[in-house]
Amino acid sequence: MPYISNTERWALITGASTGIGAETARHLARAGYSLGLLARSRDRLEEMSRELSATGIRTLVLPADVADTSQLRGAVETMMAEAGRIDLVVSNAGIETYCPLHELDIEQIHQTINVNLTAAIVLCRLVLPHMRAAGSGHIVAISSTAGKFGPAYGAAYGASKAGLLSLVRTLRAEYHGEGISASCVCPGFTSEGGMYERMKADLGHGTPKAMGSTTAKEVARQVLRCAERDVPEVIVNRPPVRPAIVLAEMFPRLGEWLIRRTSRKFLKQVARSSSRKHLRRAA
Ligand SMILES: NC(=O)c1ccc[n+]([C@@H]2O[C@H](COP(=O)([O-])OP(=O)(O)OC[C@H]3O[C@@H](n4cnc5c(N)ncnc54)[C@H](OP(=O)(O)O)[C@@H]3O)[C@@H](O)[C@H]2O)c1
Repeated sequence: MPYISNTERWALITGASTGIGAETARHLARAGYSLGLLARSRDRLEEMSRELSATGIRTLVLPADVADTSQLRGAVETMMAEAGRIDLVVSNAGIETYCPLHELDIEQIHQTINVNLTAAIVLCRLVLPHMRAAGSGHIVAISSTAGKFGPAYGAAYGASKAGLLSLVRTLRAEYHGEGISASCVCPGFTSEGGMYERMKADLGHGTPKAMGSTTAKEVARQVLRCAERDVPEVIVNRPPVRPAIVLAEMFPRLGEWLIRRTSRKFLKQVARSSSRKHLRRAA
């Protein structure tokens, strides 16, 4: 029988081994959540578990590939068997692909959509029956500003992240009044660990000032805020990006010009650098 305390809250975080997921795990642990930590690398999850257990919370290490439905189902079942509940899901596992679409490996398109979007929908499908039985639950999807504006050189990535925005809106509409809700967190380029740190290391510089950036700690804070206050959607990035995105909704031609001016050159450099890495790996 799982040990269930009335006050213990459990969060399941995918992609909890590094970057934004690891920082979110630390932040939720400080807020008193016990945690199911999911990613593929067991070793890194065990390290995280040791670190977090020192704060007094309980953790479950759930090694799984989110793109494999049976592994994802197994992780949810383990969590229900061991913890007895899932109060919060942070659907964060993701991979980035920046490449001109006409050169993008077709397998990479499928992989990006599977990991970033299909797995998030499947995970919701798996946890919702438990949340409905409990009469409560919250799902936070980690999208991206890329999901808000169709980034140059990021066709599959941007589409997967736009899909998450749509998923969250659907969940909010469908489960309204049942104690279950969802939020979408859209970070800009995020420093202090994660994919943007690797991009900066490859390029030797970060985003131009007008594009701005944020930090993993700030994203983690916003995840908890969204769950506690039932925030529908939040863009986490320094100011210039948010008004540009709002403007793009109202005046698409002006918006796309602004976004192209601020982001295209940088994203082209990212795409070039990742295709050089791809070629080195293939050689
Ligand atoms: N960093 C940014 O600038 C930024 C900006 C906007 C949005 N985001 C989004 O934030 C999320 C986290 O990004 P990050 O920067 O923290 O990236 P990261 O450091 O590369 O972390 C990705 C996490 O996802 C896990 N993961 C990847 N593929 C997986 C799979 N198939 N099954 C299970 N776990 C998998 C990785 O662990 P394993 O390798 O061990 O599986 C890792 O824990 C992503 O969804 C990303 O799109 C990031």
